[in-house]
Amino acid sequence: MCGIVAYIGEKEAFPILIKGLKRLEYRGYDSAGVALMDGTMHVYKQKGRVAELEATIHESQRIGNIGMGHTRWATHGVPNDVNAHPHQSQSGDLAVIHNGIIENFHTLKEGLLQRGHHFTSDTDTEVLIHLIEDIMNNANLSLQEAVRVALKQVVGAYAIVIMSKNHPEHLIAARKGSPLVVGIGADRGEFFLASDATPIVEYTRQVIYLNDGEIAIIENQELTIKTIDNQIQTPYIVELEMNLEQLEKGGYEHFMLKEIYEQPKSIHDSFRGRIEPMSAEIHMQSIRDYGDKLKNINRLILIGCGTSWHAGLVAEYLFEEYARIPVEVEYASEFRYRNPVLYPDDLVIAISQSGETADTLAAMELAKSKGATVFGVCNVVGSSIPRMSHAGAYTHAGPEIGVASTKAFTAQVTVLSIIAIAMAKLRGSMGSDKIRSLMYELESIPEKVEKALLLNDEIIKIAELYKDSGNFLYLGRGYNFPVALEGALKLKEISYIHAEGYPAAEMKHGPIALIDEEMPVVVIATNSAHYEKVVSNIQEVKARKGKIIALVTEGNTALKNMADHIIEVPATEESLSPLINTVPLQLLSYHIAVMRGCNVDQPRNLAKSVTVE
Ligand code: AGP
Repeated sequence: MCGIVAYIGEKEAFPILIKGLKRLEYRGYDSAGVALMDGTMHVYKQKGRVAELEATIHESQRIGNIGMGHTRWATHGVPNDVNAHPHQSQSGDLAVIHNGIIENFHTLKEGLLQRGHHFTSDTDTEVLIHLIEDIMNNANLSLQEAVRVALKQVVGAYAIVIMSKNHPEHLIAARKGSPLVVGIGADRGEFFLASDATPIVEYTRQVIYLNDGEIAIIENQELTIKTIDNQIQTPYIVELEMNLEQLEKGGYEHFMLKEIYEQPKSIHDSFRGRIEPMSAEIHMQSIRDYGDKLKNINRLILIGCGTSWHAGLVAEYLFEEYARIPVEVEYASEFRYRNPVLYPDDLVIAISQSGETADTLAAMELAKSKGATVFGVCNVVGSSIPRMSHAGAYTHAGPEIGVASTKAFTAQVTVLSIIAIAMAKLRGSMGSDKIRSLMYELESIPEKVEKALLLNDEIIKIAELYKDSGNFLYLGRGYNFPVALEGALKLKEISYIHAEGYPAAEMKHGPIALIDEEMPVVVIATNSAHYEKVVSNIQEVKARKGKIIALVTEGNTALKNMADHIIEVPATEESLSPLINTVPLQLLSYHIAVMRGCNVDQPRNLAKSVTVE
């Protein structure tokens, strides 16, 4: 996710842009830039936060009543000055800011390179503005027509604003798959554009939410909205009601809840453009570059901490089932000090949301020093872990602000599933039909997560009953053993209730002594090869008067007389069930923590990234 903001009117643009970008930094903050129009166009951009950009722009440069700004969350191209937005066309006459991912930018770039274009950045966005100018010049079209024609060639998501030196009084904006809001200023000809209403709300509450496939053209102090097929649209103006703080959280009470609800999109973005079920093809740079290596590795070692370690545990089942390769999952903090035995034909995958976790970084360095190939699966583009990896793949979950990791976890599992499928394909351990079926099922997960989110009200009722419990147990088997661990961690870290996750079968080896009528036991009993065994474990708990909260596959009524509470989740492949089963557990933890008055987004004693030992 990135944050974009633009202004045209009688006021000085610079302060509006900077203040607006600071409000959008929750959407991304690895680099920032502005374009200001004062007769001609000035572009200032650099790596770092908005405040750093502001500090480098001298008072005398802060001129013009038209401008646009961008704060970046890198998806293509590491965070640096060159990859920061705005990006300019070949001639420098056009500039664009962009939030989204252009999936077919490689193809578009190839065509432009053949037509003599030169690029300065690694971004997909720069390709777009070159394409617009190429079309405008070669087909002799107006700027707005060239934008429309170019966008019809784009595959992917975008919210863009374009400025032109030759049309200084114009702003052109468009959206598809990424949000864009138009604010109607108090004065004639005054307009605001932004990723959401937070940069706009202090100036006007009259806004238009652009729809997918719409283009907003501001010229001669007038706003026109057209579709990408050139159909004029009647603007639908709404009155903003939310206050600023609510707006930054997208209307949610906490970033954590917002991020839980973003999971259908973050899972989709994490597989978008990477799987092709029809052909059973996978598109991932690291798989292309290391295919031979991946075919011949003898062991896979997954390292991480906390929730990322749990994603590694899910991946252990995935790689062993799909690719039939031995897997070890290691706490990075233990691995780094154990002097492990490693071989050059080992593959180590470091899993991390932040890409800055000290223990994981140290474990990676150790693995590399012993000759292993190291991949990174990370959410922050350009952070230390990807930079230290030989290769890897980014999760496209967008910034995760809540300290308790939610959407990053399901994004990690999504990406690891794709890598496991790719390795199965390379090693011939899984047939094309199974690969296709897994890909189609993966594509159905966002919708199933949407459905799981509808359980929220039901889960609030359960949270109300158990918010004062002193202990929780979470039980799961197979793929859902790590989900039990993750559910317990979520509860611990935001509600401060002691919780333990266990393999369900492990109960009889001690923990069952803890069961009494005060002990809520969350059991993941969705359809799986282990289902009958899990039911036996539920009976063992029941016999000792434990309170059972059972996650079951929708339609399964067999446990309604055994469990105290039944949460029905959509059915899916067992190997992909963590992507769905985790969601109700995230919601349960969230609501219990809120009911206990805990600081959900910044729990006590915790940091979002543990960059020290
Ligand atoms: C998860 O909710 C915690 N915030 C924590 O366990 C986290 O997963 C761990 O510190 C690893 O962080 P990373 O993914 O950024 O490396």
